Amino acid sequence: MKKKIFLALLILFVIAQFFRIDKTNPSADPTQDFITLENPTPEIERILKIACYDCHSNHTVYPWYSNIAPVSFWVKRHIDNGRSELNYSNWGNYPARKKRHKLEESVEMVVDKKSMPLLPYWIAHPEAKLSPEQRKALGDWFAQIAEQVK
Ligand code: HEC
Repeated sequence: MKKKIFLALLILFVIAQFFRIDKTNPSADPTQDFITLENPTPEIERILKIACYDCHSNHTVYPWYSNIAPVSFWVKRHIDNGRSELNYSNWGNYPARKKRHKLEESVEMVVDKKSMPLLPYWIAHPEAKLSPEQRKALGDWFAQIAEQVK
């Protein structure tokens, strides 16, 4: 019985590998990019790129495990949902009200709830595990640019 279940799971796993996720990044206009427009310090830019840009921009670098179903489906869903909530590649096209709102949400997610970057992401990308100092620096910067949004 156990052998049969194992075999069935194995077959499902093999079949799942035929369903590849679409890894083409949508095109991005560099002049509308968050980093280009908001001009952070090099340290903040580095944090944004290693901890946020894979899910919240059109510059996703797909990790090796995104080749393996069903993990690939899960990665893809995070990226699709992440981009639809907040896409730094389209920052310049956001109206001021939306920018301010996303920045306020960002402070909440990064500093208060510590829910971004998502836990499974920083487990797989240890360099994206932010220290309390990095969270504070990022949060302070988000708050600062939220005030300047016109
Ligand atoms: C592994 C992918 C991933 C990474 C990395 C990531 N996010 Fe997210 N983010 C998501 C997803 C998915 C959502 C949608 C809500 C949810 O499922 O929690 C989201 C939602 C958000 C929202 C909520 C927007 C709203 O209006 O409610 C903000 C703000 C945000 N992320 C900021 C960040 C910041 C800042 C970073 C980097 C420090 C980051 N995220 C890193 C996937 C990610």
